[in-house]
Amino acid sequence: MKAFAVPAAGQPPALVEIPLPEPTEREVRVRVTAASLNGFDVAVAAGYLVGRMEHRYPVVIGKDFAGVVDAVGSGVSDFSVGDRVFGVVLKPYLGDGSLSEYVTVGVDAGLAKTPEGVEDAVAAGLGLAGSTAIAAFDAVPLTADSTVLVVGATGGVGMTLVALAASAGARVIATGRTEQGRQALRERGAADTIDYTEGVVPAVRALVPQGVDVAYHLAGDPLEIAETIRDNGAMVSSLGASVPNERIRAVPISGNATHDVLDRVAENQVTGLAPVQVQRQYPLAEAGQALSDFANGTVGKLVITVPTAE
Ligand SMILES: NC(=O)c1ccc[n+]([C@@H]2O[C@H](COP(=O)([O-])OP(=O)(O)OC[C@H]3O[C@@H](n4cnc5c(N)ncnc54)[C@H](OP(=O)(O)O)[C@@H]3O)[C@@H](O)[C@H]2O)c1
Repeated sequence: MKAFAVPAAGQPPALVEIPLPEPTEREVRVRVTAASLNGFDVAVAAGYLVGRMEHRYPVVIGKDFAGVVDAVGSGVSDFSVGDRVFGVVLKPYLGDGSLSEYVTVGVDAGLAKTPEGVEDAVAAGLGLAGSTAIAAFDAVPLTADSTVLVVGATGGVGMTLVALAASAGARVIATGRTEQGRQALRERGAADTIDYTEGVVPAVRALVPQGVDVAYHLAGDPLEIAETIRDNGAMVSSLGASVPNERIRAVPISGNATHDVLDRVAENQVTGLAPVQVQRQYPLAEAGQALSDFANGTVGKLVITVPTAE
């Protein structure tokens, strides 16, 4: 089968031919129809995770997928051949990835049935960013009196988080480098937008002199972001950042793509509460171009479509 993979340590990713994987106990094999990119994939492709996670070469790039169950391993009763599914490849090592014609994934987490009416290209963008946005949103309760700042808002996590926070009634201030990005954020419910290249702290303090209740750190300098937060406020970070003093509280979060969380993400797509924005689609053969475009900045998700194998 074809896959976009790092063939060996130190090599750039390329389209390669690798054996069809077989599902083991409590796994299914998914015929991938679409996959989406995340910052994690850029890090894997660039070799930044060498020494931090086990690499089983060829390392296929990609966490997020959508497709159809094509084979089931032993002990699987909750998914059947032919089920439309989406999710996140959650393996403790790097090797199996979604930028591929097929991928094997565990059924206990990271896998859910794709709701009717949700196309695979959209479902492929739901898993990792959606579950991380939900973890960030759940980290601190918001009310209609809350004012929040989302830094890194135009990415996959941020676009969903802005919509969730706005739907909770919070006043959302969101950062975006381009006018196109800031416009997309306003359409998702941001009350105010900031060009972070012109300085986040003065812009936020001009809007909210006492500081925001919660700042979500999805990108940028955490020390700078901490200055935008009121006393006893919180900084929720998907990057594990700590805070410089006890004036504010640090809340590190990680995506946790359990069945319940994936069902919530899917539900938010179906109801339109926090829909995925797919900026562009590329065929698998152009995965390298997609990765390079992603690294240069996107508004929402870039999706790789995978043609059916001959
Ligand atoms: N811990 C976890 O489980 C987990 C899971 C998923 C993601 N993450 C992390 O969460 C972060 C967000 O993920 P993502 O997938 O949404 O990333 P993404 O799609 O790469 O988006 C990040 C956005 O940040 C903006 N940005 C870049 N530099 C910035 C800066 N200096 N200040 C403010 N904004 C800046 C960019 O937008 P512009 O176009 O506006 O520049 C970019 O769209 C990433 O760092 C990722 O590694 C963690």
